[in-house]
Amino acid sequence: MSEAIAASHPHPAEPSAWVRRFLPLVAPGGTVLDYACGGGRHARLFAARGFRVVAVDRNAEAVATLASVPRIEARCADLEDGPWPLAGEGFDAVVVTNYLFRPRFADLLACVAPGGVLIYETFMLGNERFGRPASPEFLLRPGELLGVLGADFTVLAFEQGIVERPKAAVVQRVCAVRRPADTTALPPASE
Ligand SMILES: C[S@@+](CC[C@H](N)C(=O)[O-])C[C@H]1O[C@@H](n2cnc3c(N)ncnc32)[C@H](O)[C@@H]1O
Repeated sequence: MSEAIAASHPHPAEPSAWVRRFLPLVAPGGTVLDYACGGGRHARLFAARGFRVVAVDRNAEAVATLASVPRIEARCADLEDGPWPLAGEGFDAVVVTNYLFRPRFADLLACVAPGGVLIYETFMLGNERFGRPASPEFLLRPGELLGVLGADFTVLAFEQGIVERPKAAVVQRVCAVRRPADTTALPPASE
């Protein structure tokens, strides 16, 4: 990532431990959506493990850095305004980190194919004491991700609270599978 992009994307370059933990749940050869991918830390992680990844973000400069990465289809698109860019598409895994736009929750969930995995982690209320994001618009309410999932999803893991790494923050995170899905073996937390 160039310095200019790194400066405009102050999010960590290392993949999230939450995402790494649940990556083994995605069937080998599956398709993955990195939603609001930024510099594509998770698109790169999944592509390096052999998955085909669609990485979407409205930041053309960030998306361009992914264009030449094998197995990544990098798309510049607005996920909040205008026609829905993922209409009719389904993925074996959808990864969302450090991003929240509530009006598209239903469209986002529809991108998880039957039996597919949703891995979602972002900031929640309380994070304002540690820094940004600090606006309620960008901060999940307690338990909010559980509330939006509905009967189509089985929650495998859910956490909310203060984390110390990569920096102190208040986060909420969920891993859920869309039905129909077999009972799933949970990857160990240390992985
Ligand atoms: C904090 S970054 C997170 C990036 C990545 N998910 C990660 O965790 O490394 C938020 C991302 O959301 C993208 N974003 C914000 N609004 C967007 C929109 N309307 N459409 C598409 N992407 C958007 C930004 O360009 C930015 O890359």
